[in-house]
Amino acid sequence: MKKQRVLTGITTTGTPHLGNYVGAIRPAIAASLQPDVQSFYFLADLHSMIKSQDAQALGRSTREIAATWLALGLDTERVVFYRQSDVPEITELTWMLTCMTAKGLMNRAHAYKAAVQANQEAGQDDDFGITMGLYSYPVLMAADILMFNADRVPVGRDQIQHVEMARDIAQRFNYHYGEHFVLPSAVVDEHVAVLQGLDGRKMSKSYGNTIPLFLPEKQLQKHINRIKTNLQEPGEPKNPDESTVFQVWAAFATPGQREEMRREFADGIAWGEAKRRLFELVNAELREPRERYEALMAQPSLIEKLLREGAERARAFSRPFMQELRASVGLRPVDA
Ligand code: TRP
Repeated sequence: MKKQRVLTGITTTGTPHLGNYVGAIRPAIAASLQPDVQSFYFLADLHSMIKSQDAQALGRSTREIAATWLALGLDTERVVFYRQSDVPEITELTWMLTCMTAKGLMNRAHAYKAAVQANQEAGQDDDFGITMGLYSYPVLMAADILMFNADRVPVGRDQIQHVEMARDIAQRFNYHYGEHFVLPSAVVDEHVAVLQGLDGRKMSKSYGNTIPLFLPEKQLQKHINRIKTNLQEPGEPKNPDESTVFQVWAAFATPGQREEMRREFADGIAWGEAKRRLFELVNAELREPRERYEALMAQPSLIEKLLREGAERARAFSRPFMQELRASVGLRPVDA
Protein backbone atom coordinates (compact mmCIF):
# COMPACT_ATOMS: atom_id res chain seq x y z
CA MET A 1 0.00 0.00 0.00
CA LYS A 2 1.17 3.51 -0.77
CA LYS A 3 2.18 5.40 2.33
CA GLN A 4 -0.08 8.25 3.35
CA ARG A 5 1.65 11.56 2.93
CA VAL A 6 1.39 13.82 5.93
CA LEU A 7 2.65 17.37 5.58
CA THR A 8 2.77 20.35 7.86
CA GLY A 9 4.55 23.69 8.04
CA ILE A 10 5.92 25.62 10.99
CA THR A 11 6.04 29.38 10.56
CA THR A 12 9.45 30.69 11.58
CA THR A 13 8.47 33.40 14.00
CA GLY A 14 9.56 33.54 17.61
CA THR A 15 11.08 30.98 19.94
CA PRO A 16 9.24 27.69 20.60
CA HIS A 17 7.44 27.50 23.95
CA LEU A 18 5.90 24.74 26.02
CA GLY A 19 2.54 25.26 24.31
CA ASN A 20 4.10 24.64 20.87
CA TYR A 21 5.82 21.58 22.24
CA VAL A 22 2.76 19.96 23.79
CA GLY A 23 0.30 21.07 21.12
CA ALA A 24 2.29 20.56 17.94
CA ILE A 25 5.91 19.40 18.09
CA ARG A 26 5.58 16.40 20.40
CA PRO A 27 2.51 14.93 18.61
CA ALA A 28 4.06 15.58 15.18
CA ILE A 29 7.27 13.78 16.06
CA ALA A 30 5.28 10.88 17.53
CA ALA A 31 3.10 10.71 14.40
CA SER A 32 6.15 10.62 12.15
CA LEU A 33 7.13 7.29 13.71
CA GLN A 34 4.05 5.48 12.42
CA PRO A 35 5.06 2.90 9.84
CA ASP A 36 2.40 3.70 7.24
CA VAL A 37 3.13 7.40 6.78
CA GLN A 38 5.66 9.51 4.91
CA SER A 39 5.94 12.82 6.72
CA PHE A 40 6.98 16.11 5.23
CA TYR A 41 7.68 18.76 7.87
CA PHE A 42 9.03 22.11 6.82
CA LEU A 43 10.05 25.51 8.11
CA ALA A 44 7.65 27.98 6.53
CA ASP A 45 10.10 30.84 6.29
CA LEU A 46 8.36 32.45 3.30
CA HIS A 47 5.20 32.63 5.41
CA SER A 48 6.99 34.42 8.21
CA MET A 49 7.73 37.35 5.86
CA ILE A 50 4.03 38.16 5.89
CA LYS A 51 3.99 39.09 9.54
CA SER A 52 7.42 40.51 10.16
CA GLN A 53 10.01 42.46 8.24
CA ASP A 54 12.71 41.81 10.80
CA ALA A 55 15.37 39.95 8.81
CA GLN A 56 17.51 39.21 11.88
CA ALA A 57 14.57 37.72 13.73
CA LEU A 58 13.61 35.53 10.77
CA GLY A 59 17.10 34.06 10.60
CA ARG A 60 17.27 33.49 14.34
CA SER A 61 13.86 31.90 14.52
CA THR A 62 14.63 29.54 11.62
CA ARG A 63 17.75 28.36 13.41
CA GLU A 64 15.99 27.97 16.76
CA ILE A 65 13.01 26.11 15.37
CA ALA A 66 15.16 23.76 13.30
CA ALA A 67 17.37 23.05 16.33
CA THR A 68 14.28 22.46 18.47
CA TRP A 69 12.80 19.79 16.22
CA LEU A 70 16.15 18.08 15.78
CA ALA A 71 16.89 18.18 19.51
CA LEU A 72 13.52 16.63 20.27
CA GLY A 73 14.42 13.62 18.19
CA LEU A 74 12.98 14.29 14.75
CA ASP A 75 14.52 11.60 12.58
CA THR A 76 15.65 13.25 9.36
CA GLU A 77 16.17 9.87 7.72
CA ARG A 78 12.49 9.18 8.10
CA VAL A 79 10.93 12.58 7.78
CA VAL A 80 11.58 14.92 4.87
CA PHE A 81 12.53 17.99 6.92
CA TYR A 82 13.29 21.12 4.91
CA ARG A 83 13.17 24.86 4.68
CA GLN A 84 10.47 26.12 2.36
CA SER A 85 12.67 28.75 0.68
CA ASP A 86 15.14 26.01 -0.36
CA VAL A 87 12.50 24.53 -2.66
CA PRO A 88 11.99 27.05 -5.51
CA GLU A 89 9.34 24.84 -7.12
CA ILE A 90 7.01 25.91 -4.31
CA THR A 91 7.18 29.57 -5.31
CA GLU A 92 6.80 28.65 -8.95
CA LEU A 93 3.73 26.60 -8.14
CA THR A 94 2.38 29.54 -6.13
CA TRP A 95 2.09 31.54 -9.35
CA MET A 96 0.39 28.72 -11.23
CA LEU A 97 -2.09 28.38 -8.41
CA THR A 98 -2.59 32.13 -8.12
CA CYS A 99 -3.96 31.95 -11.66
CA MET A 100 -6.39 29.25 -10.48
CA THR A 101 -7.61 31.14 -7.42
CA ALA A 102 -10.79 33.15 -7.40
CA LYS A 103 -10.28 36.55 -5.84
CA GLY A 104 -13.59 36.05 -4.07
CA LEU A 105 -12.17 33.00 -2.32
CA MET A 106 -9.33 35.07 -0.89
CA ASN A 107 -11.79 37.78 0.20
CA ARG A 108 -13.29 35.19 2.53
CA ALA A 109 -10.04 34.16 4.26
CA HIS A 110 -10.27 34.62 8.04
CA ALA A 111 -6.84 36.19 8.47
CA TYR A 112 -7.53 38.80 5.82
CA LYS A 113 -11.03 39.50 7.11
CA ALA A 114 -9.70 39.95 10.63
CA ALA A 115 -7.19 42.52 9.36
CA VAL A 116 -9.93 44.44 7.53
CA GLN A 117 -12.12 44.37 10.61
CA ALA A 118 -9.30 45.66 12.79
CA ASN A 119 -8.85 48.54 10.32
CA GLN A 120 -12.55 49.35 10.42
CA GLU A 121 -12.58 49.34 14.20
CA ALA A 122 -9.59 51.68 14.22
CA GLY A 123 -11.35 54.01 11.76
CA GLN A 124 -8.74 53.31 9.07
CA ASP A 125 -9.11 52.57 5.39
CA ASP A 126 -10.04 48.89 4.86
CA ASP A 127 -6.76 48.17 3.06
CA PHE A 128 -4.50 49.94 5.54
CA GLY A 129 -1.28 47.95 6.08
CA ILE A 130 -2.56 44.92 4.16
CA THR A 131 -0.02 43.51 1.71
CA MET A 132 -0.66 41.12 -1.16
CA GLY A 133 1.38 38.65 0.91
CA LEU A 134 -1.26 38.62 3.62
CA TYR A 135 -4.09 38.66 1.11
CA SER A 136 -2.90 35.75 -1.02
CA TYR A 137 -1.21 33.79 1.74
CA PRO A 138 -3.61 30.83 1.38
CA VAL A 139 -2.26 30.36 -2.17
CA LEU A 140 1.30 29.96 -0.90
CA MET A 141 0.02 27.50 1.67
CA ALA A 142 -1.87 25.60 -1.05
CA ALA A 143 1.39 25.36 -3.02
CA ASP A 144 3.18 23.98 0.07
CA ILE A 145 0.60 21.24 0.35
CA LEU A 146 -0.08 20.42 -3.30
CA MET A 147 3.61 20.40 -4.31
CA PHE A 148 4.01 17.14 -2.39
CA ASN A 149 0.54 15.74 -3.02
CA ALA A 150 -0.10 15.49 0.70
CA ASP A 151 -3.10 13.41 1.75
CA ARG A 152 -3.31 14.70 5.29
CA VAL A 153 -2.40 18.06 6.78
CA PRO A 154 -2.28 18.25 10.59
CA VAL A 155 -3.14 21.80 11.62
CA GLY A 156 -4.72 23.87 14.36
CA ARG A 157 -8.37 24.87 14.02
CA ASP A 158 -7.51 28.30 12.66
CA GLN A 159 -5.87 26.66 9.62
CA ILE A 160 -8.69 24.35 8.51
CA GLN A 161 -10.07 26.97 6.14
CA HIS A 162 -6.72 27.23 4.39
CA VAL A 163 -6.57 23.49 3.73
CA GLU A 164 -10.09 23.65 2.34
CA MET A 165 -9.01 26.47 0.06
CA ALA A 166 -6.11 24.29 -1.11
CA ARG A 167 -8.66 21.65 -2.10
CA ASP A 168 -10.72 24.19 -4.04
CA ILE A 169 -7.67 25.48 -5.86
CA ALA A 170 -6.47 21.94 -6.63
CA GLN A 171 -9.86 21.03 -8.05
CA ARG A 172 -9.82 23.98 -10.37
CA PHE A 173 -6.32 23.14 -11.57
CA ASN A 174 -7.27 19.49 -12.10
CA TYR A 175 -10.37 20.58 -14.03
CA HIS A 176 -8.36 22.72 -16.44
CA TYR A 177 -5.16 20.75 -16.78
CA GLY A 178 -5.88 17.14 -15.78
CA GLU A 179 -5.71 15.20 -12.54
CA HIS A 180 -2.35 16.26 -11.16
CA PHE A 181 -3.19 17.00 -7.56
CA VAL A 182 -4.39 14.90 -4.66
CA LEU A 183 -7.14 16.67 -2.70
CA PRO A 184 -5.75 17.13 0.83
CA SER A 185 -7.69 16.88 4.10
CA ALA A 186 -7.05 18.85 7.26
CA VAL A 187 -6.65 16.77 10.40
CA VAL A 188 -7.20 18.36 13.76
CA ASP A 189 -6.11 16.28 16.71
CA GLU A 190 -8.82 16.54 19.38
CA HIS A 191 -6.66 14.91 22.02
CA VAL A 192 -3.67 17.18 22.21
CA ALA A 193 -3.73 19.66 25.03
CA VAL A 194 -4.00 23.37 24.43
CA LEU A 195 -1.64 24.53 27.13
CA GLN A 196 -2.46 27.42 29.42
CA GLY A 197 0.11 30.15 29.94
CA LEU A 198 1.38 31.95 33.04
CA ASP A 199 -1.83 33.99 33.33
CA GLY A 200 -4.21 31.07 32.71
CA ARG A 201 -5.14 32.08 29.16
CA LYS A 202 -4.01 29.95 26.21
CA MET A 203 -0.20 29.99 26.08
CA SER A 204 0.62 32.25 23.18
CA LYS A 205 3.33 34.63 22.14
CA SER A 206 0.71 37.28 21.44
CA TYR A 207 -0.38 37.22 25.12
CA GLY A 208 3.19 37.37 26.41
CA ASN A 209 2.42 34.52 28.83
CA THR A 210 4.69 31.78 27.52
CA ILE A 211 7.30 29.52 29.03
CA PRO A 212 10.05 29.14 26.39
CA LEU A 213 10.85 25.49 25.79
CA PHE A 214 14.60 25.40 26.29
CA LEU A 215 15.17 27.87 29.08
CA PRO A 216 18.15 27.17 31.30
CA GLU A 217 17.03 25.14 34.34
CA LYS A 218 16.97 28.05 36.78
CA GLN A 219 14.94 30.17 34.40
CA LEU A 220 12.50 27.36 33.81
CA GLN A 221 11.98 27.09 37.55
CA LYS A 222 11.43 30.86 37.80
CA HIS A 223 8.86 30.81 35.04
CA ILE A 224 6.99 27.92 36.61
CA ASN A 225 6.96 29.79 39.90
CA ARG A 226 5.27 32.67 38.13
CA ILE A 227 2.25 30.60 37.03
CA LYS A 228 -0.79 32.35 38.45
CA THR A 229 -2.58 30.57 41.32
CA ASN A 230 -5.35 31.54 43.70
CA LEU A 231 -4.79 32.51 47.34
CA GLN A 232 -5.68 29.17 48.89
CA GLU A 233 -3.48 28.19 51.81
CA PRO A 234 -1.55 24.93 52.26
CA GLY A 235 -3.95 22.30 53.59
CA GLU A 236 -6.99 23.74 51.83
CA PRO A 237 -8.39 21.36 49.18
CA LYS A 238 -7.79 22.76 45.70
CA ASN A 239 -9.61 22.25 42.44
CA PRO A 240 -7.23 20.77 39.86
CA ASP A 241 -9.61 21.55 37.01
CA GLU A 242 -9.30 25.26 37.66
CA SER A 243 -5.54 25.27 38.02
CA THR A 244 -2.93 26.03 35.37
CA VAL A 245 -0.36 24.24 37.52
CA PHE A 246 -2.41 21.07 37.26
CA GLN A 247 -3.14 21.61 33.59
CA VAL A 248 0.56 21.82 32.72
CA TRP A 249 1.24 18.86 35.01
CA ALA A 250 -1.35 16.81 33.10
CA ALA A 251 0.37 17.56 29.78
CA PHE A 252 3.63 16.01 31.01
CA ALA A 253 2.41 13.32 33.41
CA THR A 254 1.59 9.66 32.94
CA PRO A 255 -2.06 8.74 33.71
CA GLY A 256 -0.88 7.43 37.10
CA GLN A 257 0.95 10.65 37.96
CA ARG A 258 -2.11 12.61 36.93
CA GLU A 259 -4.35 10.73 39.36
CA GLU A 260 -1.79 11.05 42.11
CA MET A 261 -1.67 14.83 41.66
CA ARG A 262 -5.47 15.00 41.72
CA ARG A 263 -5.34 13.37 45.14
CA GLU A 264 -2.63 15.78 46.27
CA PHE A 265 -4.85 18.69 45.25
CA ALA A 266 -7.77 17.23 47.18
CA ASP A 267 -5.45 16.83 50.17
CA GLY A 268 -4.47 20.48 49.98
CA ILE A 269 -0.95 20.42 48.56
CA ALA A 270 0.72 23.86 48.93
CA TRP A 271 1.13 25.84 45.70
CA GLY A 272 4.88 26.11 46.24
CA GLU A 273 5.18 22.35 46.56
CA ALA A 274 2.97 21.69 43.53
CA LYS A 275 5.12 24.03 41.46
CA ARG A 276 8.33 22.42 42.71
CA ARG A 277 7.06 19.03 41.56
CA LEU A 278 5.87 20.47 38.28
CA PHE A 279 9.34 21.86 37.63
CA GLU A 280 10.89 18.44 38.37
CA LEU A 281 8.52 16.70 35.99
CA VAL A 282 8.91 19.13 33.10
CA ASN A 283 12.64 19.39 33.59
CA ALA A 284 13.06 15.61 33.55
CA GLU A 285 11.43 15.45 30.13
CA LEU A 286 13.36 18.40 28.72
CA ARG A 287 16.80 17.96 30.24
CA GLU A 288 18.34 15.81 27.52
CA PRO A 289 16.70 17.57 24.57
CA ARG A 290 17.89 20.86 26.09
CA GLU A 291 21.48 19.63 26.05
CA ARG A 292 21.12 18.54 22.44
CA TYR A 293 19.52 21.90 21.61
CA GLU A 294 22.38 23.83 23.11
CA ALA A 295 24.90 21.68 21.26
CA LEU A 296 23.10 22.23 17.96
CA MET A 297 22.78 25.97 18.49
CA ALA A 298 26.54 26.06 19.00
CA GLN A 299 27.00 24.23 15.67
CA PRO A 300 24.75 25.97 13.15
CA SER A 301 26.64 24.40 10.25
CA LEU A 302 25.33 21.00 11.31
CA ILE A 303 21.75 22.32 11.27
CA GLU A 304 22.39 23.87 7.87
CA LYS A 305 23.74 20.60 6.49
CA LEU A 306 20.67 18.69 7.63
CA LEU A 307 18.33 21.30 6.16
CA ARG A 308 20.12 21.19 2.82
CA GLU A 309 19.93 17.42 2.73
CA GLY A 310 16.25 17.70 3.54
CA ALA A 311 15.76 20.17 0.71
CA GLU A 312 17.46 17.77 -1.70
CA ARG A 313 15.09 15.02 -0.65
CA ALA A 314 12.12 17.36 -1.03
CA ARG A 315 13.29 18.42 -4.46
CA ALA A 316 13.56 14.81 -5.56
CA PHE A 317 9.75 15.04 -5.49
CA SER A 318 9.18 18.64 -6.47
CA ARG A 319 11.58 18.89 -9.42
CA PRO A 320 10.09 16.14 -11.61
CA PHE A 321 6.58 17.08 -10.52
CA MET A 322 7.19 20.67 -11.59
CA GLN A 323 8.36 19.44 -15.00
CA GLU A 324 5.07 17.61 -15.34
CA LEU A 325 3.06 20.65 -14.21
CA ARG A 326 4.88 23.03 -16.51
CA ALA A 327 4.15 20.80 -19.47
CA SER A 328 0.53 20.43 -18.45
CA VAL A 329 -0.12 24.20 -18.40
CA GLY A 330 1.70 24.73 -21.71
CA LEU A 331 5.07 25.96 -20.50
CA ARG A 332 6.90 23.74 -22.95
CA PRO A 333 9.91 23.84 -25.21
CA VAL A 334 8.77 25.15 -28.59
CA ASP A 335 10.18 22.13 -30.38
CA ALA A 336 8.50 19.54 -28.19
N1 TRP B 1 0.05 28.74 8.03
C1 TRP B 1 0.42 27.71 8.96
C2 TRP B 1 0.34 28.27 10.39
O1 TRP B 1 0.32 29.47 10.56
C3 TRP B 1 1.82 27.20 8.70
C4 TRP B 1 1.88 26.58 7.36
C5 TRP B 1 2.43 27.10 6.24
C6 TRP B 1 1.35 25.31 7.01
N2 TRP B 1 2.29 26.25 5.21
C7 TRP B 1 1.63 25.15 5.64
C8 TRP B 1 0.65 24.33 7.71
C9 TRP B 1 1.21 24.01 4.94
C10 TRP B 1 0.25 23.20 7.02
C11 TRP B 1 0.53 23.03 5.66
O2 TRP B 1 0.26 27.51 11.32
